Amino acid sequence: MNRCNAKYAFVMILGGMLVAAGVANAAELDPSKLPPASTKKADFERDIKPIIDESCIRCHGPKKQKAKYRMDSREAALKGNKGPVIVPGKSEKSRMVYMLANQIEKMLMPPEGEGDPLTPEQIGMVRAWIDQGAQWPEDKNNVVAQVDFAKEVDPILRTACVECHGAKEPKGGFGVETKEAVLKGGKGYGKVVIAGESKKSPLIAIVSGKDEDIAQPEKHKLPAEQVELLKKWIEQGAK
Ligand code: HEC
Ligand code: HEC
Repeated sequence: MNRCNAKYAFVMILGGMLVAAGVANAAELDPSKLPPASTKKADFERDIKPIIDESCIRCHGPKKQKAKYRMDSREAALKGNKGPVIVPGKSEKSRMVYMLANQIEKMLMPPEGEGDPLTPEQIGMVRAWIDQGAQWPEDKNNVVAQVDFAKEVDPILRTACVECHGAKEPKGGFGVETKEAVLKGGKGYGKVVIAGESKKSPLIAIVSGKDEDIAQPEKHKLPAEQVELLKKWIEQGAK
């Protein structure tokens, strides 16, 4: 084989590999399999940011960038690294929507076992947001925040729980003095924090007053916004 042919063969092999890897081809994507776009007016702050914060940012944010993809600014979120994943005005052409709806092989986001899939309503809202131009206020760039345990979670537990769950003989063997202790859990419940899964984490049921078996339930109930913060921390991987 002369050099020119060798180069040609290489290009052919590479092309074949890309096809074999199932790189999404826009022509294969079928919009009729997607949940319909919501007819509501989408609001980034109210409808989209909470989804990113809870379900995506821990793998696509300041700390980690799986697939070298990040979602903490509009520019980065649109771009993707194998071509655009969000096409403003055209949700039916936006690969991300197909990932959320599990329509691209092995690309469900969040990945299986790494958090609840988005509901059809949420996907519909993401579609509406994209169709309406994927508005992302300037001042919201780089502010999709990862919950900081030391600054945000620790003070809540310290204020509300340390009295009974301090380092010395904590009730039920559950200590809140260190993150390790919180992750370790207690004698009766075992682990109370399941990283990535706030719904399965007993801690959330306990502090939202939904656990009927806990001792002194009134001492365990936290205000709604603190419960939300703990949830977000767990959804983001309890880091
Ligand atoms: C637990 C980690 C994790 C979470 C959470 C997660 N992803 Fe991913 N994401 C990945 C990994 C890993 C890949 C690469 C998958 C592959 O290529 O096989 C990826 C790839 C992607 C890509 C493709 C980027 C490109 O340019 O090819 C997009 C878009 C994406 N994710 C969007 C999201 C969205 C939106 C969410 C939230 C709804 C999300 N991801 C949640 C791990 C995660
Ligand atoms: C006034 C004391 C008091 C306060 C304040 C308190 N707890 Fe408790 N907690 C208890 C008692 C008592 C038990 C039951 C211990 C037992 O069964 O042996 C318990 C049990 C628990 C358990 C189960 C441990 C296990 O595995 O058995 C968890 C988790 C827990 N508390 C979390 C918290 C959190 C989080 C806070 C703060 C929001 C908090 N508690 C505040 C008294 C308290």
